[in-house]
Amino acid sequence: MTSRRNPQLNAHGELIHLLSIEGLPRATIHQILDTAGSFLSVNDREVKKVPLLRGKSVFNLFFENSTRTRTTFEIAAKRLSADVINLDIARSSTAKGESLLDTIANLSAMHADMFVVRHAESGAPYLIAQHVAPHVHVVNAGDGRHAHPTQGLLDMYTIRHYKKDFTGLTVAVVGDIVHSRVARSDIHALNILGVPEVRAVGPKTLVPGDLREMGVRVCHDMAEGIRDADVIIMLRLQNERMSGAMLPSAGEFFKTFGLTPEKLALAKPDAIVMHPGPINRGVEIDSVVADGGQSVILPQVTFGIAVRMAVMSIIAGNLC
Ligand code: CP
Repeated sequence: MTSRRNPQLNAHGELIHLLSIEGLPRATIHQILDTAGSFLSVNDREVKKVPLLRGKSVFNLFFENSTRTRTTFEIAAKRLSADVINLDIARSSTAKGESLLDTIANLSAMHADMFVVRHAESGAPYLIAQHVAPHVHVVNAGDGRHAHPTQGLLDMYTIRHYKKDFTGLTVAVVGDIVHSRVARSDIHALNILGVPEVRAVGPKTLVPGDLREMGVRVCHDMAEGIRDADVIIMLRLQNERMSGAMLPSAGEFFKTFGLTPEKLALAKPDAIVMHPGPINRGVEIDSVVADGGQSVILPQVTFGIAVRMAVMSIIAGNLC
């Protein structure tokens, strides 16, 4: 039985699906980060496997493009000894008009134990979670502009790895926040973990004032936004989600909000630079910064494997 208030928790408050960071207890986030820490060493072993999901079938359903999330979920599931099935959406029956729920029902009939779902429609993983059998778990791998919880969690793992403690930090999230599911998941996680200053930085068209309702400081001036920051999270312009011209040009955006070495010098000297990827060099970030000593963009990807192992092993261990 699920919690009436939060469909991703069971009646005991344990995680059974991962749909969103919003509403997760702080202790659950720390449990995931601590578990991920214990899995990091598995990646360094000669035999990179533990048997926690042996005999389980994990179905990767990516209805939208992905490089990092899809691949690291597959690696994570295999390192947990699961059988992994990657559905080729372009060649599946959804291309012939089959509904999402009919596809799920058919895959469930093949004894799926877990669905990892990326979908362009916000809420699609919630819909699936409402319709699967009680023993089946659902992980949101990014839904529309709503949420990307495992990205948010791996971002928190990265921040904790480099900064140790959340409670004295200033974190600037910069760029196309209005279309970004990563920004939303990061902001919820930073708030839950007690970060005292979270800034949303970008032009008015991409960072609307009502973001203040999420407890962030909205900055339309880049210098103000990143000054003395401990962590800078750069975001890609989500052109595929923009309707109409929201910016004069990519070049103009880079001049004002692109992270260059000169702008980075305004942050704390030991500030880290993060980006969920894919990065657009010369649009939101200068190559010198993306490849520089303060960039932790590639470690984020590595941590993502351990964080996804943690999420899958925790939810699979809890009864719905
Ligand atoms: N960060 C992220 O979601 O990247 P992909 O789109 O490559 O999965």
